[in-house]
Amino acid sequence: MSLFVTFEGPEGSGKSTQARRLYERLAAASYPVIVTREPGGTPISDMIRRIVLDLQHSEMAPTTETLLFSAARAQHVAERIRPYLELGGIVVCDRFADSMLAYQGYGSGQDLDILRTLTRIATGGLRPDLTFYLDLPAQQGLDRKRKAAQRATQDNPLSPKITATEPIEWNRLDARDLAYHERVRHGFLELIKLEPERWHVLDARLTMDELSEQIWHAIEVRLPSIRPLEDTHP
Ligand code: TYD
Repeated sequence: MSLFVTFEGPEGSGKSTQARRLYERLAAASYPVIVTREPGGTPISDMIRRIVLDLQHSEMAPTTETLLFSAARAQHVAERIRPYLELGGIVVCDRFADSMLAYQGYGSGQDLDILRTLTRIATGGLRPDLTFYLDLPAQQGLDRKRKAAQRATQDNPLSPKITATEPIEWNRLDARDLAYHERVRHGFLELIKLEPERWHVLDARLTMDELSEQIWHAIEVRLPSIRPLEDTHP
């Protein structure tokens, strides 16, 4: 049995840190695990990421944006996620298709049925087993991310501006207004209502350690179905 775990949430909710912590704890316990992110996760998908998140691409049409996120996802699933799950491993992914419904759907107003169809094409029907949603009011999340992005630029005197290669980037979607990010959050909450058994909602205002513990408790119960590395390679 494999396990596909995704993390979703607004900007600045700390989900990337939690995805990495979960990966580290699973790896330390010898579970076969990879951590990855969207958009990205493969060389081709990372190239698409640079195009779709670049602050300079203000002229990008909504359909172009959607197709680029989908193309990055299709490559990511085909090259990395599906093969690892087929080996019986655990994939921890920072954002996945729910982000498209929340951002391009609820945020930008694109047709949700079309987005669902595109997602099925890109993923071949693959869906997460479990999704953590780190909830945070939109304004608070944006403030956190803006500060972190500023710190990242100040720490690197060679960096003339925040770009897609910075560890914490201020990207084209972050730069949208507060109302957009509020629609995105509302979108996530609607998606959770449609499929409550898949989602695990967490309050992103808790400390990082508190969040990690809650995430670990939710994951622990699913681990008996995963074979640790010693068992797979005697
Ligand atoms: P990233 O820097 O990874 O931000 P975060 O820490 O918030 O995940 O940027 C990813 C951005 O892309 C983020 O603003 C959400 C957006 N996004 C979409 O709009 N649609 C998608 O399908 C995905 C995967 C991400």
